[in-house]
Amino acid sequence: MDDCVIRASNLEKWFGEGEARTQAVKDANFEAHYGEMLYIVGPSGSGKTTLLSMISGILKPNGGQVTIEGRDLWAMTDDELADLRLNKLGFVFQDYHLFPRLSTVENVAIPLILKKMEWNQALRLALEYLQIVGLKDRAELQPVNLSGGEQQRVAIARAIVGQPDILIFDEPTASLDGDTGRKIVEFVKTNILNEKRCIIIVTHDSRIYEYADRIMKMEDGKITGLENNHLNEK
Ligand SMILES: Nc1ncnc2c1ncn2[C@@H]1O[C@H](COP(=O)(O)OP(=O)(O)O)[C@@H](O)[C@H]1O
Ligand SMILES: [Mg+2]
Repeated sequence: MDDCVIRASNLEKWFGEGEARTQAVKDANFEAHYGEMLYIVGPSGSGKTTLLSMISGILKPNGGQVTIEGRDLWAMTDDELADLRLNKLGFVFQDYHLFPRLSTVENVAIPLILKKMEWNQALRLALEYLQIVGLKDRAELQPVNLSGGEQQRVAIARAIVGQPDILIFDEPTASLDGDTGRKIVEFVKTNILNEKRCIIIVTHDSRIYEYADRIMKMEDGKITGLENNHLNEK
């Protein structure tokens, strides 16, 4: 089997027209593989979120191609794209996107409910995943009653509960102190990454670089490098 899960070819994205046009991503080419934790790093505004959005079916590129396991992402029908988002991809947004009126356990259960799992069974499974991220005792609380780090862990639990093969995190440690950030990323690397999963993390937090297998650099919309991480040689 081709171990390349995501292949981006000549990706282009711009916003606005004429004088106001901003080219957010310029001719981006890279591959991500199963079994690896790939970081995308670069200064704020360098195009990281835009690139992530294009490889996860959220934002349509102006040019180029994305394939997921060899299938052309942006040639998929709406149904195929919805199926991919539900069954193959987990996305953790920088600001978590938790539902404020739902309890912690209900938030985690949402992807299972969308997959039409029976409500009680979904809640039971969601509780198991809350336990995995160390938040079982917070199950009945609403997100507003959780710390930032706890909310991040809820978002991670929600992203992994449906067992997606591809996990994408946008700046997971941006609002956390260094120690909490490292713990979360170490947890993900140790407990979630395996040879059948691929994890992509966008960050400009050098405190968590040690966990990356490869690091891709972006600057001003361009990929300027993609190398094995010398901090993590096996
Ligand atoms: N929806 C949008 N409309 C207009 N410009 C945008 C939009 N999203 C991003 N941009 C611009 O594209 C560039 C890259 O942004 P982004 O991908 O968010 O960078 P990063 O995630 O690396 O901080 C920036 O100049 C940003 O202002
Ligand atoms: Mg961003």
